[in-house]
Amino acid sequence: MRIVVDRPIFVAIVMGFALFVLSSFQPRVSMAVEIIELHYPLDGELVTKEMGHLVAKVDVSVSPYVSVKVNEQITPVIDMLQPLYTDTLGDMLIVRLYFVPGVNEIEVVGKNADGDEVVKSAFRIFYKPTFASLTSSVPSAFVESPFHVSEREDLCSACHRMKVDSAVDMEPVKKFDIFCTRCHESGLLGAKEHGGTTWKCLFCHDHEAADKYSLYDNKGAFCLDCHGSEMDAFLNMTSVHPKFRERDCLACHGGHVAGEGLLGDAVNILCFKCHQSVYDGTHITPGHPLEAPKDPSREGKGMDCMSCHLAHASQKKALLKFKGGMGMCAICHAK
Ligand code: HEC
Ligand code: HEC
Ligand code: HEC
Ligand code: HEC
Ligand code: HEC
Ligand code: HEC
Ligand code: HEC
Ligand code: HEC
Repeated sequence: MRIVVDRPIFVAIVMGFALFVLSSFQPRVSMAVEIIELHYPLDGELVTKEMGHLVAKVDVSVSPYVSVKVNEQITPVIDMLQPLYTDTLGDMLIVRLYFVPGVNEIEVVGKNADGDEVVKSAFRIFYKPTFASLTSSVPSAFVESPFHVSEREDLCSACHRMKVDSAVDMEPVKKFDIFCTRCHESGLLGAKEHGGTTWKCLFCHDHEAADKYSLYDNKGAFCLDCHGSEMDAFLNMTSVHPKFRERDCLACHGGHVAGEGLLGDAVNILCFKCHQSVYDGTHITPGHPLEAPKDPSREGKGMDCMSCHLAHASQKKALLKFKGGMGMCAICHAK
């Protein structure tokens, strides 16, 4: 699924761009890439999460002050020579970034001790919300590349444990028992607690895969390791959702998204992804609401597709919750 790209090409693009920027503004400085050596993300990166990290190595003797701009948002100036910073992160610049869907313009600006700009790297990445969201098509210049490859991990291993220790990592009890959370906790803070499995990263992410930490399979057959027996009962019902029958759990669910039912979006947005025609204003009766603040049949919930349908399977036709015909209408439209 992932496309492995030729890294040096991107490095060259970043370097080329940085040199161009420098030669136009700061003729005295020429070795941009050595002052701020970007490791992730690089120019042309395709990311699928709203929050990510910028990782770079900085020559702090030349550029102790750094700030990062994403679109119109700019971080406060980071003083990398401040003892607290040096003691913990050394010369690594690790900044959380928040992206907007589509193209994001990123600029890393380094300043010297006098506050003069000595280096500027500008590049573009593309954020495509994954899973269950409406997405625009991605321009071909942007490709996804895995972070977890050895050249990058080697830069981290001085301070972070980068190898799985089965004895401790396979069955962690608490979130801090697993080393992944030192780097990923902020990305998972909004995750849904999932029956005590949330912090068992390696149950779903394969540490022995060629594409390290990719999912065991991209449809989610591993979900059935725990949910198999509850799910089997659905398969013999009158109507079964075809994606469910294919065991494509990830067509609708995520592994640690925040929404109810581990769904990445509100139900109506999720179903819209594949059922646009249902939203044309003719479903059920012309003008019938598919979305409303109150669902008369479900206390405390609004109208959505789940007002009348079940998601996995049903004993009625078309995944309906209620028997068709006027009896069904009466559930919400009491006379
Ligand atoms: C000089 C030591 C050092 C090096 C080298 C280092 N880190 Fe870290 N990193 C830390 C420390 C210390 C923390 C804070 C951890 C904590 O709070 O437990 C941290 C935290 C992080 C975080 C969490 C940030 C957040 O959002 O909360 C990420 C991501 C991270 N490091 C990534 C990396 C990556 C990627 C590399 C290698 C390219 C790397 N680090 C190399 C010391 C280092
Ligand atoms: C040294 C920090 C660090 C540690 C430790 C770490 N990761 Fe990552 N990981 C990253 C960074 C940085 C990214 C890029 C995404 C981002 O910007 O946050 C990433 C990306 C990923 C991705 C997305 C796919 C990819 O390769 O880009 C997965 C999945 C992942 N990590 C899983 C894990 C798991 C599981 C563990 C523990 C077994 C782990 N990571 C440990 C820093 C780390
Ligand atoms: C129950 C299975 C499951 C568990 C447990 C789990 N994940 Fe995931 N993870 C997924 C699925 C499914 C996706 C892709 C869909 C999504 O974004 O939810 C994913 C996506 C990710 C990504 C983002 C990949 C990307 O393309 O940006 C990272 C990073 C990640 N997981 C890290 C972790 C870490 C770290 C842990 C443990 C603290 C963990 N996961 C536990 C199933 C799981
Ligand atoms: C067509 C979309 C879709 C597919 C495919 C799908 N689910 Fe669901 N699932 C949902 C929705 C929507 C809900 C929430 C139902 C609600 O709110 O009433 C849900 C609820 C659940 C629940 C919560 C308990 C329950 O039964 O309501 C579990 C567990 C679950 N799904 C597991 C799975 C597994 C495992 C697979 C893959 C075999 C899967 N789902 C495939 C849409 C789907
Ligand atoms: C390691 C075992 C395990 C795996 C793997 C696993 N689950 Fe679960 N899941 C659980 C447990 C335990 C619960 C809590 C059951 C309960 O509270 O009744 C749960 C609950 C759920 C719920 C209901 C959550 C809610 O609050 O609405 C959904 C939906 C769900 N799982 C979907 C999935 C999907 C999708 C996958 C694959 C990406 C998956 N699970 C993988 C163990 C697992
Ligand atoms: C990843 C794509 C995908 C998603 C997401 C999806 N569906 Fe479907 N659904 C299909 C396909 C494909 C079919 C079979 C062809 C058709 O009827 O359009 C189908 C069929 C159906 C049917 C007709 C089943 C029958 O037996 O006649 C219903 C009802 C349905 N989906 C409801 C939903 C609801 C509700 C959601 C949101 C929870 C949803 N679907 C999400 C792809 C999807
Ligand atoms: C008020 C009840 C109600 C709501 C709300 C509702 N549906 Fe339906 N849906 C029905 C009924 C009744 C049928 C069966 C029509 C027939 O007799 O074939 C149906 C059939 C379907 C079908 C299969 C036939 C077709 O038209 O393609 C799909 C797919 C579907 N619904 C998707 C959705 C989605 C997606 C939503 C949410 C946006 C939704 N429905 C909301 C009542 C409802
Ligand atoms: C799950 C609940 C639910 C079911 C089932 C349901 N409706 Fe509705 N319906 C609503 C809600 C909510 C509204 C908007 C509030 C209102 O007008 O009462 C609505 C509005 C309507 C309207 C007015 C639409 C407009 O243009 O203002 C008609 C007509 C209607 N429904 C007919 C039906 C028929 C026929 C059925 C059976 C095939 C049906 N409904 C099944 C919840 C439901």
